[in-house]
Amino acid sequence: MSSSRNKVTASAPGKVIIIGEHFVVHGSYAVAAAIDKRATVTVSKENAPESVILSQGQKEALLDDHGKFSAARSVARRIFEEFGQPDGSISLEIDSEIPLGSGLGSSAAVSVATTAALAKFLGHDLTNEKIAEISAIGEMSVHGNPSGIDTAASLYGGMILFSRKTGAKPIPLNRAFQLLVVYSGQARSTSELVAKVNKKRTEFPSTFAHLSDASSFASLELVDALTSGDLPYLGALMNLGQASLSWAGASTEDLDHLIEDLLSDESCFGAKLTGAGGGGSIIALPKPDRVEVLLKRISAKYDFSFISSIPQHGLRCE
Ligand code: MEV
Repeated sequence: MSSSRNKVTASAPGKVIIIGEHFVVHGSYAVAAAIDKRATVTVSKENAPESVILSQGQKEALLDDHGKFSAARSVARRIFEEFGQPDGSISLEIDSEIPLGSGLGSSAAVSVATTAALAKFLGHDLTNEKIAEISAIGEMSVHGNPSGIDTAASLYGGMILFSRKTGAKPIPLNRAFQLLVVYSGQARSTSELVAKVNKKRTEFPSTFAHLSDASSFASLELVDALTSGDLPYLGALMNLGQASLSWAGASTEDLDHLIEDLLSDESCFGAKLTGAGGGGSIIALPKPDRVEVLLKRISAKYDFSFISSIPQHGLRCE
C-alpha cells in the first residue's frame, strides 16, 4: 500500500526535432533534443467538491470529457485506472512556457510531467519506461498516432536518436552548440499534418520509402556530425531534412520564406521546420559568432524566438 502526498510538482522540457520528423512515424530514425522551455505540473490536495485542472487562467473538471486539456486528462484517467483515485479532490495545475500547437512538444511535456506528478502524488515512483508508456496516452489523445519521439525527448532530456523499433538512445555531445528557435505564431494540428504527409506516402509509396531511408541515413550521419562537432555538415543535413519535408507537404510558404531569410546572409549553417510543420516553428543552426545578431534580427519580427542550448535535464520531480 503506498501513501499519498499533499503536493507534488514535476516539470519536463519541450523539444525540437533536428531531423526526421514525419518519417519517424513510419519507422525511420530521427534525432530530437530537449529545449530550454518547460511545462510544470503541480498536483495538490484541494478542499473542493470536485477535482480540477487549472491552466492559462482557466479551470475545468479534471475528468470532463469535453474539456480542453486532453493530454493531462487522458493521463489522469489512466493513472487512476492503474493506481486508484486519490482520497478527496485534487487540483492539477499546468504552467507551461511552451506555446500550444507550436511544434515544440507542449503536449508531450505536459503528458510526461502530469504522469510523474500524479503517480508520485499517489505514492508511486515510476520507471522511465512506465512514464513513457503512460505519457504516450496523453500524446495519443492529441494526435492519434505518435511515434513516441516527443515524449522520449522530454522525458530523457539531452539529445536522442530515436526510432519506433529501437526507442531512444542518448547522443553524447562533444561540443556545446546553440539552436535558434522561432515560432511562426501559426498554431496547427499535428494530427492533420501527419494525415497530410501520410496521404503523400500512399500517393507516392516508392519515393516516400526512399526519402524515409534517406531520413534514417541523415539521422545516423547527424549523430556522427554531432560527435565530431562538424557544424557545417550538421547544417547541411538539416537543409536536406527541410527539402524532404517540403516535398512531403509539411512546409508552408511562410516557413519557406522564414528559412530562406535565415539562410540568406550566411549567418546559419542550416535551417528547417521542426515538429509537424504546417506553421509551428523552425530551427536554425547559427554560426557561433552570429548568434546574438541573428536573434536580435529575428526577434524584431517574431515575438517567440529564443536561443536554446541542449539541456541535459529531462523530467524533474520534487
Ligand atoms: C511531431 O513533433 C513529430 C511528428 O513526427 C509526429 C510524431 O513523431 O509523433 C510529426
